[in-house]
Amino acid sequence: MEKELENKINQEVKAILSEKRYMHSLGVMKKAEELAKKYGVDVAKARLVGIAHDMAKEMSKEEKLEYAEKNSLPVDSIEKVNVGLLHGKIAADICKKKYNFTESMCKAIEYHTTGNENMDLLAKIIFVADKIEENRSYKSLERQQELEEMRKMALENLDKTVLYLIDSSLTYTIQKKELIHPDSISTRNEIIIELFT
Ligand SMILES: [Fe+2]
Ligand SMILES: [Fe+2]
Repeated sequence: MEKELENKINQEVKAILSEKRYMHSLGVMKKAEELAKKYGVDVAKARLVGIAHDMAKEMSKEEKLEYAEKNSLPVDSIEKVNVGLLHGKIAADICKKKYNFTESMCKAIEYHTTGNENMDLLAKIIFVADKIEENRSYKSLERQQELEEMRKMALENLDKTVLYLIDSSLTYTIQKKELIHPDSISTRNEIIIELFT
């Protein structure tokens, strides 16, 4: 039954997303499966979340705000400026209402953008898979090397990989003088507490 649902969502995602983002979604599905096997998480659920996680990414800014408003999704002060961040929350809401995804699956989709201090194993797997899937690559040699390291680290220590990925993204955000979502900071703090205290 889950396979049927996966095929349905796969077709839908293929129809609404650009080729590049569809390939990314397939890559996240594949990487999520690999990590789910490694960490003892339900593979079918991980694949479903992987293929669905960016289904709202290519909605326009106006469409995202309208969806949030119509479906009473809270929009915080950072999301008001960086409307793109809402694509996680919106996809989670669609998957809950349309496909009956479980709470854990919806949270994994919601949290893949900023992270969250309450991420469970599935959410961590999706957060990491999104950033290291096989189609990702960087022009900068330094970033590419970091990506290769993250791909190895993900199979050894998932929490540490989340921490490194957040640090890398924060560094980049600071360099660009962009807004940092507080959930990224609290995710980072929570993982440091779990890992080192
Ligand atoms: Fe995304
Ligand atoms: Fe993604």
